Amino acid sequence: MVRIVGLGAYAPPDRLSNRDFERFMDTNDEWIRSRSGIRYRHISPPEVLTSDLATEAASKALMRAGLSPKDVDMVIVATSSPDTLTPSTACVTAAKLGIGKVPCFDISAACPGFLYGLEIGSGLLRTGNYRYVLVIGVEAGTKFIDWSDRGTAVLFGDGAGAAILTEDDSGYGILSTYLQGDGRLGELLKIEVGTAYPPGSWGVRMRGREVFRNAVVQMGDAAITALRRAGMEPEELDWLVPHQANLRIIEATRERLGLPPEKVYVNIQEYGNTSAASIPLAMDEMIERGLLKEGHNVLAVSFGAGFTWASALIRWG
Ligand code: COA
Repeated sequence: MVRIVGLGAYAPPDRLSNRDFERFMDTNDEWIRSRSGIRYRHISPPEVLTSDLATEAASKALMRAGLSPKDVDMVIVATSSPDTLTPSTACVTAAKLGIGKVPCFDISAACPGFLYGLEIGSGLLRTGNYRYVLVIGVEAGTKFIDWSDRGTAVLFGDGAGAAILTEDDSGYGILSTYLQGDGRLGELLKIEVGTAYPPGSWGVRMRGREVFRNAVVQMGDAAITALRRAGMEPEELDWLVPHQANLRIIEATRERLGLPPEKVYVNIQEYGNTSAASIPLAMDEMIERGLLKEGHNVLAVSFGAGFTWASALIRWG
Protein backbone atom coordinates (compact mmCIF):
# COMPACT_ATOMS: atom_id res chain seq x y z
CA MET A 1 0.00 0.00 0.00
CA VAL A 2 1.16 3.55 -0.62
CA ARG A 3 1.83 5.33 2.66
CA ILE A 4 2.51 8.90 3.74
CA VAL A 5 5.80 8.66 5.64
CA GLY A 6 6.12 12.37 6.33
CA LEU A 7 3.79 15.35 6.12
CA GLY A 8 4.44 19.02 6.74
CA ALA A 9 2.90 22.40 6.03
CA TYR A 10 3.68 26.08 6.09
CA ALA A 11 1.73 29.31 6.00
CA PRO A 12 3.36 32.74 5.68
CA PRO A 13 3.20 34.56 9.03
CA ASP A 14 1.46 37.76 7.87
CA ARG A 15 -2.31 37.55 8.06
CA LEU A 16 -5.29 39.74 7.27
CA SER A 17 -8.28 39.77 9.60
CA ASN A 18 -11.86 40.42 8.57
CA ARG A 19 -11.57 43.77 10.36
CA ASP A 20 -8.55 44.65 8.20
CA PHE A 21 -10.81 44.25 5.14
CA GLU A 22 -13.39 46.60 6.66
CA ARG A 23 -10.83 49.40 6.30
CA PHE A 24 -10.65 49.23 2.48
CA MET A 25 -13.72 47.30 1.32
CA ASP A 26 -17.48 47.43 1.74
CA THR A 27 -17.64 44.30 3.89
CA ASN A 28 -17.75 43.38 7.54
CA ASP A 29 -16.60 40.73 9.97
CA GLU A 30 -20.12 39.47 10.64
CA TRP A 31 -20.89 38.90 6.93
CA ILE A 32 -17.65 37.05 6.28
CA ARG A 33 -17.87 34.88 9.40
CA SER A 34 -21.53 33.95 9.01
CA ARG A 35 -21.27 33.16 5.26
CA SER A 36 -17.92 31.39 5.25
CA GLY A 37 -16.53 30.79 8.76
CA ILE A 38 -13.33 32.69 7.89
CA ARG A 39 -11.67 35.10 10.38
CA TYR A 40 -8.10 35.32 9.08
CA ARG A 41 -6.14 34.42 5.98
CA HIS A 42 -2.35 34.31 5.63
CA ILE A 43 -0.80 36.40 2.87
CA SER A 44 2.63 35.98 1.31
CA PRO A 45 4.54 39.23 0.73
CA PRO A 46 5.49 40.05 -2.90
CA GLU A 47 9.02 38.65 -2.61
CA VAL A 48 7.81 35.28 -1.26
CA LEU A 49 6.90 32.96 -4.11
CA THR A 50 4.76 29.84 -4.33
CA SER A 51 7.95 27.76 -4.53
CA ASP A 52 9.18 29.33 -1.26
CA LEU A 53 6.03 28.20 0.55
CA ALA A 54 6.38 24.76 -1.07
CA THR A 55 10.03 24.52 0.00
CA GLU A 56 9.16 25.26 3.64
CA ALA A 57 6.37 22.66 3.70
CA ALA A 58 8.51 20.02 1.95
CA SER A 59 11.43 20.59 4.34
CA LYS A 60 9.12 19.89 7.26
CA ALA A 61 7.72 16.77 5.57
CA LEU A 62 11.25 15.49 4.93
CA MET A 63 12.20 16.18 8.54
CA ARG A 64 9.14 14.28 9.81
CA ALA A 65 9.98 11.37 7.47
CA GLY A 66 13.60 11.33 8.64
CA LEU A 67 14.72 11.70 5.03
CA SER A 68 17.06 14.07 3.23
CA PRO A 69 16.32 15.91 -0.05
CA LYS A 70 18.61 13.44 -1.88
CA ASP A 71 16.19 10.60 -1.02
CA VAL A 72 13.38 12.15 -3.11
CA ASP A 73 12.89 10.48 -6.51
CA MET A 74 10.11 12.67 -7.93
CA VAL A 75 8.42 16.01 -7.19
CA ILE A 76 4.77 16.69 -8.00
CA VAL A 77 3.35 20.12 -7.21
CA ALA A 78 -0.40 20.76 -7.29
CA THR A 79 -1.03 24.48 -7.65
CA SER A 80 -3.22 27.02 -9.39
CA SER A 81 -0.77 29.82 -8.61
CA PRO A 82 2.62 28.71 -9.97
CA ASP A 83 5.70 30.97 -9.82
CA THR A 84 5.86 30.81 -13.62
CA LEU A 85 4.20 28.70 -16.31
CA THR A 86 7.63 27.22 -17.03
CA PRO A 87 9.70 26.11 -15.34
CA SER A 88 7.19 24.25 -13.25
CA THR A 89 6.97 25.15 -9.56
CA ALA A 90 7.96 21.50 -8.94
CA CYS A 91 11.29 22.06 -10.74
CA VAL A 92 11.92 25.35 -8.91
CA THR A 93 11.06 23.78 -5.55
CA ALA A 94 13.26 20.73 -6.21
CA ALA A 95 16.19 23.06 -6.94
CA LYS A 96 15.53 25.16 -3.83
CA LEU A 97 15.43 22.00 -1.71
CA GLY A 98 18.71 20.71 -3.22
CA ILE A 99 17.05 17.54 -4.47
CA GLY A 100 19.20 17.27 -7.61
CA LYS A 101 18.12 15.52 -10.82
CA VAL A 102 14.64 14.01 -10.52
CA PRO A 103 11.45 14.18 -12.60
CA CYS A 104 9.37 17.22 -11.58
CA PHE A 105 6.03 18.47 -12.83
CA ASP A 106 3.02 20.54 -11.80
CA ILE A 107 -0.60 19.51 -11.92
CA SER A 108 -3.52 21.88 -12.27
CA ALA A 109 -6.54 20.43 -10.50
CA ALA A 110 -7.51 23.40 -8.30
CA CYS A 111 -8.49 22.68 -4.69
CA PRO A 112 -8.43 18.85 -4.96
CA GLY A 113 -4.94 19.09 -6.52
CA PHE A 114 -3.23 17.56 -3.49
CA LEU A 115 -5.58 14.55 -3.64
CA TYR A 116 -5.01 14.27 -7.41
CA GLY A 117 -1.29 14.35 -6.56
CA LEU A 118 -1.66 11.48 -4.08
CA GLU A 119 -3.33 9.36 -6.77
CA ILE A 120 -0.77 10.25 -9.46
CA GLY A 121 2.14 9.75 -7.07
CA SER A 122 0.74 6.40 -5.94
CA GLY A 123 0.34 5.22 -9.53
CA LEU A 124 3.91 6.21 -10.39
CA LEU A 125 5.28 4.47 -7.28
CA ARG A 126 3.67 1.27 -8.51
CA THR A 127 5.87 1.35 -11.61
CA GLY A 128 8.70 0.36 -9.28
CA ASN A 129 10.90 3.13 -10.68
CA TYR A 130 10.74 5.41 -7.63
CA ARG A 131 11.08 4.95 -3.89
CA TYR A 132 10.00 8.31 -2.46
CA VAL A 133 7.63 10.72 -4.21
CA LEU A 134 7.14 14.23 -2.85
CA VAL A 135 3.62 15.59 -3.40
CA ILE A 136 3.00 19.24 -2.57
CA GLY A 137 -0.23 21.27 -2.56
CA VAL A 138 0.63 24.96 -2.54
CA GLU A 139 -0.96 28.30 -3.29
CA ALA A 140 0.08 31.92 -3.23
CA GLY A 141 -3.33 32.64 -4.74
CA THR A 142 -3.70 36.01 -3.04
CA LYS A 143 -1.27 37.32 -5.68
CA PHE A 144 -4.03 36.82 -8.29
CA ILE A 145 -6.85 38.31 -6.24
CA ASP A 146 -8.85 41.22 -7.59
CA TRP A 147 -8.87 43.28 -4.37
CA SER A 148 -11.88 45.26 -5.63
CA ASP A 149 -14.07 42.11 -5.77
CA ARG A 150 -15.48 41.58 -2.29
CA GLY A 151 -17.14 38.33 -3.40
CA THR A 152 -13.76 36.58 -3.74
CA ALA A 153 -11.07 38.71 -2.06
CA VAL A 154 -12.12 37.83 1.48
CA LEU A 155 -12.19 34.07 0.89
CA PHE A 156 -8.68 33.03 -0.12
CA GLY A 157 -5.36 32.65 1.68
CA ASP A 158 -1.84 31.36 1.01
CA GLY A 159 -0.18 28.21 2.29
CA ALA A 160 1.52 24.94 1.46
CA GLY A 161 1.40 21.31 2.51
CA ALA A 162 3.63 18.41 1.48
CA ALA A 163 3.64 14.65 1.81
CA ILE A 164 6.32 12.04 1.13
CA LEU A 165 4.87 8.86 -0.34
CA THR A 166 6.40 5.43 -0.47
CA GLU A 167 5.06 1.91 -0.99
CA ASP A 168 5.43 -0.67 1.76
CA ASP A 169 3.62 -3.52 3.51
CA SER A 170 3.07 -1.80 6.86
CA GLY A 171 -0.71 -2.01 6.51
CA TYR A 172 -0.94 1.79 6.76
CA GLY A 173 -1.57 4.13 3.88
CA ILE A 174 -4.04 5.09 1.21
CA LEU A 175 -6.95 2.62 1.30
CA SER A 176 -8.99 4.13 -1.52
CA THR A 177 -9.22 7.22 -3.70
CA TYR A 178 -11.72 8.84 -6.00
CA LEU A 179 -11.09 11.56 -8.57
CA GLN A 180 -13.74 13.26 -10.64
CA GLY A 181 -14.21 16.32 -12.83
CA ASP A 182 -16.70 18.13 -15.05
CA GLY A 183 -15.31 20.77 -17.37
CA ARG A 184 -18.76 21.86 -18.49
CA LEU A 185 -19.12 23.91 -15.30
CA GLY A 186 -15.73 25.60 -15.52
CA GLU A 187 -17.16 29.07 -16.10
CA LEU A 188 -18.51 29.24 -12.55
CA LEU A 189 -15.08 29.51 -10.90
CA LYS A 190 -11.96 30.69 -12.68
CA ILE A 191 -8.56 32.22 -12.17
CA GLU A 192 -8.46 34.36 -15.28
CA VAL A 193 -4.74 34.24 -16.03
CA GLY A 194 -3.58 32.69 -19.29
CA THR A 195 -3.81 32.93 -23.05
CA ALA A 196 -7.56 33.57 -22.91
CA TYR A 197 -7.02 36.81 -20.96
CA PRO A 198 -5.05 39.93 -21.85
CA PRO A 199 -2.29 40.98 -19.43
CA GLY A 200 -3.62 43.29 -16.73
CA SER A 201 -7.06 41.68 -16.49
CA TRP A 202 -6.09 39.03 -13.95
CA GLY A 203 -8.47 37.97 -11.25
CA VAL A 204 -10.34 35.21 -9.52
CA ARG A 205 -13.96 35.12 -10.73
CA MET A 206 -16.65 33.13 -9.01
CA ARG A 207 -20.40 32.68 -9.07
CA GLY A 208 -20.46 31.87 -5.37
CA ARG A 209 -23.97 30.48 -4.93
CA GLU A 210 -23.74 28.07 -7.87
CA VAL A 211 -20.29 26.91 -6.77
CA PHE A 212 -21.68 26.38 -3.29
CA ARG A 213 -24.59 24.24 -4.55
CA ASN A 214 -22.29 22.02 -6.60
CA ALA A 215 -19.69 21.75 -3.84
CA VAL A 216 -22.23 20.47 -1.31
CA VAL A 217 -23.35 17.65 -3.62
CA GLN A 218 -19.92 16.62 -4.91
CA MET A 219 -18.10 16.75 -1.57
CA GLY A 220 -20.69 14.36 -0.16
CA ASP A 221 -20.58 12.06 -3.21
CA ALA A 222 -16.78 11.97 -3.16
CA ALA A 223 -16.73 11.11 0.54
CA ILE A 224 -19.23 8.30 0.12
CA THR A 225 -17.48 6.87 -2.95
CA ALA A 226 -14.08 6.57 -1.24
CA LEU A 227 -15.73 4.87 1.74
CA ARG A 228 -17.59 2.45 -0.54
CA ARG A 229 -14.41 1.63 -2.49
CA ALA A 230 -12.72 0.66 0.78
CA GLY A 231 -15.78 -1.22 2.06
CA MET A 232 -15.98 1.12 5.05
CA GLU A 233 -18.94 2.74 6.83
CA PRO A 234 -18.89 6.39 7.95
CA GLU A 235 -19.03 5.24 11.61
CA GLU A 236 -15.60 3.64 11.17
CA LEU A 237 -14.02 7.00 10.42
CA ASP A 238 -11.90 8.73 13.03
CA TRP A 239 -11.56 11.95 11.03
CA LEU A 240 -13.11 13.76 8.14
CA VAL A 241 -10.65 16.31 6.76
CA PRO A 242 -12.67 18.40 4.32
CA HIS A 243 -11.36 21.08 1.98
CA GLN A 244 -11.65 24.34 3.91
CA ALA A 245 -13.61 26.58 1.53
CA ASN A 246 -16.75 27.33 3.48
CA LEU A 247 -17.93 26.22 6.92
CA ARG A 248 -21.46 25.63 5.63
CA ILE A 249 -20.17 23.27 2.90
CA ILE A 250 -18.15 21.42 5.56
CA GLU A 251 -21.23 21.20 7.76
CA ALA A 252 -23.38 19.84 4.91
CA THR A 253 -20.76 17.16 4.18
CA ARG A 254 -20.60 16.20 7.85
CA GLU A 255 -24.39 15.85 7.97
CA ARG A 256 -24.49 13.78 4.79
CA LEU A 257 -22.09 11.29 6.43
CA GLY A 258 -23.90 11.45 9.77
CA LEU A 259 -20.69 12.28 11.65
CA PRO A 260 -20.49 14.11 14.99
CA PRO A 261 -18.78 17.54 14.83
CA GLU A 262 -15.80 16.33 16.87
CA LYS A 263 -14.75 14.01 14.03
CA VAL A 264 -14.45 16.85 11.51
CA TYR A 265 -11.28 18.94 11.43
CA VAL A 266 -11.89 22.62 10.77
CA ASN A 267 -9.28 25.38 10.55
CA ILE A 268 -10.91 27.63 7.95
CA GLN A 269 -11.21 30.37 10.60
CA GLU A 270 -7.41 30.80 10.54
CA TYR A 271 -6.48 30.26 6.88
CA GLY A 272 -9.50 30.82 4.63
CA ASN A 273 -9.50 28.84 1.40
CA THR A 274 -5.92 27.83 0.58
CA SER A 275 -7.06 25.66 -2.34
CA ALA A 276 -4.56 22.84 -3.01
CA ALA A 277 -2.82 23.47 0.33
CA SER A 278 -5.97 23.18 2.39
CA ILE A 279 -5.98 19.45 3.21
CA PRO A 280 -2.28 18.95 4.03
CA LEU A 281 -2.34 22.22 6.01
CA ALA A 282 -5.17 20.79 8.11
CA MET A 283 -3.43 17.41 8.52
CA ASP A 284 -0.20 19.08 9.60
CA GLU A 285 -2.08 20.97 12.32
CA MET A 286 -3.69 17.72 13.42
CA ILE A 287 -0.23 16.14 13.76
CA GLU A 288 1.05 19.16 15.71
CA ARG A 289 -1.91 18.91 18.06
CA GLY A 290 -1.52 15.16 18.54
CA LEU A 291 -4.92 14.46 16.98
CA LEU A 292 -3.80 12.08 14.21
CA LYS A 293 -3.02 8.72 15.76
CA GLU A 294 -1.60 5.52 14.31
CA GLY A 295 -4.42 3.42 12.84
CA HIS A 296 -6.86 6.31 12.50
CA ASN A 297 -9.12 6.19 9.46
CA VAL A 298 -8.93 9.63 7.85
CA LEU A 299 -11.12 10.68 4.96
CA ALA A 300 -9.93 13.73 3.00
CA VAL A 301 -12.38 15.25 0.54
CA SER A 302 -12.22 18.28 -1.73
CA PHE A 303 -13.96 20.24 -4.45
CA GLY A 304 -12.81 23.07 -6.69
CA ALA A 305 -12.55 24.85 -10.02
CA GLY A 306 -12.86 22.84 -13.18
CA PHE A 307 -15.03 21.57 -11.60
CA THR A 308 -12.89 18.91 -9.97
CA TRP A 309 -13.58 16.87 -6.88
CA ALA A 310 -11.77 14.06 -5.10
CA SER A 311 -11.36 12.04 -1.96
CA ALA A 312 -8.76 9.81 -0.30
CA LEU A 313 -9.30 7.42 2.58
CA ILE A 314 -6.09 6.95 4.57
CA ARG A 315 -5.24 4.58 7.40
CA TRP A 316 -2.83 6.84 9.23
CA GLY A 317 0.51 5.50 10.41
N1 COA B 1 -19.12 41.39 2.21
C1 COA B 1 -20.38 41.81 2.19
N2 COA B 1 -21.27 41.46 1.24
C2 COA B 1 -20.82 40.65 0.25
C3 COA B 1 -19.50 40.20 0.20
C4 COA B 1 -18.64 40.59 1.24
N3 COA B 1 -17.37 40.18 1.28
N4 COA B 1 -19.37 39.42 -0.88
C5 COA B 1 -20.54 39.40 -1.51
N5 COA B 1 -21.42 40.16 -0.83
C6 COA B 1 -22.81 40.42 -1.18
C7 COA B 1 -23.05 40.29 -2.65
O1 COA B 1 -22.74 41.50 -3.30
C8 COA B 1 -24.50 39.94 -2.70
O2 COA B 1 -25.23 41.12 -2.51
P1 COA B 1 -26.62 41.33 -3.31
O3 COA B 1 -27.52 40.22 -2.83
O4 COA B 1 -27.03 42.69 -2.85
O5 COA B 1 -26.28 41.22 -4.74
C9 COA B 1 -24.65 39.10 -1.48
O6 COA B 1 -23.61 39.42 -0.58
C10 COA B 1 -24.52 37.63 -1.81
O7 COA B 1 -25.11 37.03 -0.77
P2 COA B 1 -25.39 35.50 -0.86
O8 COA B 1 -25.61 35.04 -2.25
O9 COA B 1 -26.44 35.19 0.14
O10 COA B 1 -24.04 34.93 -0.37
P3 COA B 1 -23.79 33.44 -0.08
O11 COA B 1 -24.57 33.01 1.10
O12 COA B 1 -23.87 32.62 -1.33
O13 COA B 1 -22.27 33.49 0.36
C11 COA B 1 -20.16 32.89 -0.56
C12 COA B 1 -21.32 33.87 -0.57
C13 COA B 1 -19.16 33.29 -1.61
C14 COA B 1 -19.50 32.93 0.83
C15 COA B 1 -20.71 31.49 -0.84
O14 COA B 1 -21.53 31.50 -1.96
C16 COA B 1 -19.66 30.47 -1.04
O15 COA B 1 -18.86 30.18 -0.15
N6 COA B 1 -19.65 29.81 -2.20
C17 COA B 1 -18.74 28.73 -2.47
C18 COA B 1 -17.36 29.24 -2.52
C19 COA B 1 -16.40 28.17 -2.67
O16 COA B 1 -16.46 27.19 -2.01
N7 COA B 1 -15.44 28.42 -3.54
C20 COA B 1 -14.33 27.64 -3.72
C21 COA B 1 -14.59 26.25 -4.06
S1 COA B 1 -13.09 25.61 -3.93
